[in-house]
Amino acid sequence: MNYKRYIAEKLTIEGISSEEIYSLLSIPPNTEMGDYALPCFKFAKVFRKSPAAIAEGLVNTYNCDDVIRGVSAVNGYLNFTLNKAALAESILKSIESESEYYGSSCEGEGKTVCIDYSSVNVAKPFHIGHLSTTVIGGALYKIYKFLGYNVVGINHLGDYGTQFGKLICAYKHWGDKEKVKSGGIHAINELYVRFNEEADAEMESEAREYFRLIENGDKEANDLFEWFKSLTLEYVKKIYEKLNIKFDSYAGERFYTDKMQPVIDELREKKLLKESNGAQIVDLEPYGMAPCLILRSDGASLYATRDLAAAVYRKNTYDFYKCLYVVAYQQNLHFKQFFKVLELMGKDWAKDLVHVAYGMVSLEDGAMSTRKGKVVWLEDVISRCVEKAYAIIDEKNPALENKEKIAETVGLGAVIFGALYNNKIKDITFSYDKVLSFEGETSVYVQYTCARANSVLAKSGEKETIPENYAPNAEEYEVIKMLTAFPDTVKEAASKYEPSCVARYAVDLAQKYNKFYIECKILSEEGATKQFRLALTRATGTVLKTALSLLGIGVPEKM
Ligand code: ARG
Repeated sequence: MNYKRYIAEKLTIEGISSEEIYSLLSIPPNTEMGDYALPCFKFAKVFRKSPAAIAEGLVNTYNCDDVIRGVSAVNGYLNFTLNKAALAESILKSIESESEYYGSSCEGEGKTVCIDYSSVNVAKPFHIGHLSTTVIGGALYKIYKFLGYNVVGINHLGDYGTQFGKLICAYKHWGDKEKVKSGGIHAINELYVRFNEEADAEMESEAREYFRLIENGDKEANDLFEWFKSLTLEYVKKIYEKLNIKFDSYAGERFYTDKMQPVIDELREKKLLKESNGAQIVDLEPYGMAPCLILRSDGASLYATRDLAAAVYRKNTYDFYKCLYVVAYQQNLHFKQFFKVLELMGKDWAKDLVHVAYGMVSLEDGAMSTRKGKVVWLEDVISRCVEKAYAIIDEKNPALENKEKIAETVGLGAVIFGALYNNKIKDITFSYDKVLSFEGETSVYVQYTCARANSVLAKSGEKETIPENYAPNAEEYEVIKMLTAFPDTVKEAASKYEPSCVARYAVDLAQKYNKFYIECKILSEEGATKQFRLALTRATGTVLKTALSLLGIGVPEKM
């Protein structure tokens, strides 16, 4: 049974829908304040009364029953005290029967969400700067799916531009087929870096010519380009597999080559295009923004032109309810600009485009630079984290079986969780020691709590039965309260585009469980107490596992 729903439906406030009441109900941090609380501040305007007076008035109209045992008004809040035994039993039963689907919903039925994320650049390093977009996008993908949405994951590849002319030119001068074959993305990136360092005017002009050849469909130039692209994809897909990341489309910028003209025509028809120093722009000065460049003076399209075409294409193809772009905040202006252009074109769906911006990730041991080749590749961050995880596990528990496999799960989890735990807009400094700590706010801590739950259940040996009418003590009830909050947490993560809600939740639940574990005996208890505590342990393990899986993180059975 959904207690929040029950409270919301039983409470009648004139002019306020039960849906609104439902959305306002929250779980107070301090249980003495009640199990659920309704803040009355929002109603003050409507009723022209103070929140305190409104809460007082509502108390008198509310009839308690066996589910809601008490109602009180405190400082403008209406506090509900529930029948905790019934609540505990109900939540444990829900988790037992729904298992890994507990917290899922069908709110997204019939709606499609497109998520543009990771969006790597062909022949360029897949570096630590791509970590956040990849794991935040990947988590949103899973979270929306869990809520019943149809999700389309799109890798908007950076596979368009003059740099590919440069790359081909570099390959022609210095390249070696075998070396590129075996070296893959690293070898082609080296060629590109070398071009930037050494190319003279003559090579620059050759590079422009190669770019023109790609554009004009020249076979050799295109074959080379496709080869470089396939080497890049082959490489990044291996990393995606490790991080549990999936894409439904790899339609990159080049895919829109023939889809830009209709958009340009439409802009012209709608009198939105203006000439400025030979270039074609959309003037955004009335909106306080620099102009959006559509065509350069030589007629070449730009990043924004391709994004306009991509948005139109996605709307036509997927008829999305929302289209998210998980891209660093450095590109704030770009997104504001092209969203505005679509709005000016009269696309009413422009309001459904969302730039999910996130902050910078830097490594503890120094900054990174892209052009020079002094880049921290994500691959290296991952292997270093897995190696360190192995060393820690080996030290803690040398006799553990499958240490390699476990270290992989722990190390990868730490990389993902490290990038997800903070509010996404914050700049973060990635520290190996911090993300791998067994005690901190880490995936390792959560995974370890799962393993602890598994071990308790394994030692018990038999399947418990959830007791009826068991009144939980304070520690037990804190865990129950957290378990109750999971479905709303997932919804909040989706509506705020903030996987960190789920990450924080997991740490919070693990902390509450560990407090219970330290304060309360389980296996040496008997009867209803033992049964309840085993059930609580099982439910915690189930929900922690689900929470981590929504972030793309696995859980080792033992650790
Ligand atoms: N490849 C781009 C970059 O590395 C990100 C693309 C983001 N997606 C988009 N539709 N613009 O900066």
